[in-house]
Amino acid sequence: MLAGKTSFLFIILLLLCLPLELNAKSKGSNKTYYIAVGDSFAYCVFDRDDVPPRCYAYTDALYERLKENNPNLEFRKKHFAKGGVTTTSIITGQLLNATKFMKSHSGLIKFVTINIGRNDFVGCSPKHSNVSECLHTKLERITYNLNNTIIPMLKEAGGEGAQYAATTYFDTIPYHDLLADRLIDIYTKNGFKVVDLRQIITNDTICNYTYWCKHHNGHPNVIGSRIIADVLFSKLSSPVVTHFPDSNFIASPAVTHFPDSNL
Ligand SMILES: *[C@@H]1O[C@H](CO)[C@@H](O)[C@H](O)[C@H]1NC(C)=O
Ligand SMILES: *[C@@H]1O[C@H](CO)[C@@H](O)[C@H](O)[C@H]1NC(C)=O
Ligand SMILES: *[C@@H]1O[C@H](CO)[C@@H](O)[C@H](O)[C@H]1NC(C)=O
Ligand SMILES: *[C@@H]1O[C@H](CO)[C@@H](O)[C@H](O)[C@H]1NC(C)=O
Ligand SMILES: *[C@@H]1O[C@H](CO)[C@@H](O)[C@H](O)[C@H]1NC(C)=O
Ligand SMILES: *[C@@H]1O[C@H](CO)[C@@H](O)[C@H](O)[C@H]1NC(C)=O
Repeated sequence: MLAGKTSFLFIILLLLCLPLELNAKSKGSNKTYYIAVGDSFAYCVFDRDDVPPRCYAYTDALYERLKENNPNLEFRKKHFAKGGVTTTSIITGQLLNATKFMKSHSGLIKFVTINIGRNDFVGCSPKHSNVSECLHTKLERITYNLNNTIIPMLKEAGGEGAQYAATTYFDTIPYHDLLADRLIDIYTKNGFKVVDLRQIITNDTICNYTYWCKHHNGHPNVIGSRIIADVLFSKLSSPVVTHFPDSNFIASPAVTHFPDSNL
């Protein structure tokens, strides 16, 4: 027990002393990274009817697209994204983990996406004595946490070589539009590319693109995830896309749903 603990501490100390060497090591290989931070929209959800079960998010779909043109790109979301996290809980949890990883792989981080904010509203249930006041307070908290803590931490850790992006949510709560508008404003002012899911998940596409009609669940399904990823992909600059303008991209059936994918 003690021996285990001691060697654990020893490893921790070693790790603390090694960031420079790790850096040097990772620079020797040609791996680069896509980091997904956030809640279940970033991590993934299961379709219980899928056999075998598969946990899938737009981040997985985006990685598939990016990987085509960036064969050495690795994807990391485990321990960096988790269902249920809020703009407060993520700071000392998943965000800290992610920024540590990013700093120890400095120069190799190419893409960073984030989804956060929706879960902050969970406490404002209809039983709350003043729901609109509660939502308003939370919105200000989300704004502050994102603008003053989360985004600065991400950009400091990821550096200038990374492209940063985010999406809004699909949701049915009354405050949804205010949240979406606020998220777009903050992200855009901080140089993030943003996909507004309200332009993808509409009354016409909700059953095809989310689990809403099937499970009364607002997460994007596999098809929806791929559409979101395609729109986001079109906003990023991916090295090979500039070499082969249009080829992959126009050919993708998903994109033909959104010929003017300037969403
Ligand atoms: C870089 O990646 C290519 C393709 O994956 C691989 O063949 C090559 O060995 C890698 N180079 C280094 C230095 O790791
Ligand atoms: C941070 O990462 C470690 C593994 O590196 C993991 O054990 C821990 O649960 C992670 N923390 C969070 C909040 O995800
Ligand atoms: C809820 O809070 C808002 C803002 O503080 C206030 O204007 C409103 O009157 C309150 N509503 C109720 C029902 O207390
Ligand atoms: C975001 O932070 C910047 C500086 O860190 C500040 O100038 C700006 O007013 C903030 N925006 C919001 C919406 O809080
Ligand atoms: C979408 O559906 C909702 C609920 O059925 C309805 O209130 C809303 O007006 C519809 N929006 C459009 C643009 O048709
Ligand atoms: C939704 O899916 C159905 C069945 O696959 C298809 O017929 C329909 O065109 C799709 N609608 C949209 C808006 O993609």
